[in-house]
Amino acid sequence: MVKVLFVCLGNICRSPLAEAIFNHKINQSNLIHKFSSDSCGTSDYHIGELPDERTLNCAAKYGIPIQHRARQINRVDLRDFDYLIAMDNSNKKNISTLLQNHNINHDRIFLIREFQPETDSLEVPDPYYGGSECFEEVYGILNDAIEHFLEHLRKHEGTYV
Ligand code: 4NP
Repeated sequence: MVKVLFVCLGNICRSPLAEAIFNHKINQSNLIHKFSSDSCGTSDYHIGELPDERTLNCAAKYGIPIQHRARQINRVDLRDFDYLIAMDNSNKKNISTLLQNHNINHDRIFLIREFQPETDSLEVPDPYYGGSECFEEVYGILNDAIEHFLEHLRKHEGTYV
């Protein structure tokens, strides 16, 4: 089982949506025996909370089941997960600092948008202070980026389904 962890700042907007989209796609592709995912935040701001209402509305609109409680990344995550997938450069930097602090080598830390073949930006914009159109934008980015990420996983993790 290849384990993927999606990471953002608060774990109530971007990363729980990424996790939900990823899980929905692997369900549809009969890949649940190959891949699993979870999400977390680098901050402790929203621990225990449900995803932001705007995230829930967006997921519902696209028929994506979403079930998550916000949690903060911890030392066990750094060892447990095969892929650490950040939403923006700041998340990625925070993960790298944690790895350094705990003396852990990890060779699969990516920005989710690194998997998109054509993109102007490598970051998923933080929608927290934006309107519902920002959540729509995030959904569109994640849906495309995760499709490409799954292609990468199929290729590199020996699953040619
Ligand atoms: P997320 O969005 O990192 O995509 O979950 C945010 C959620 C909360 C805050 C910032 C970003 N906040 O500052 O509380």
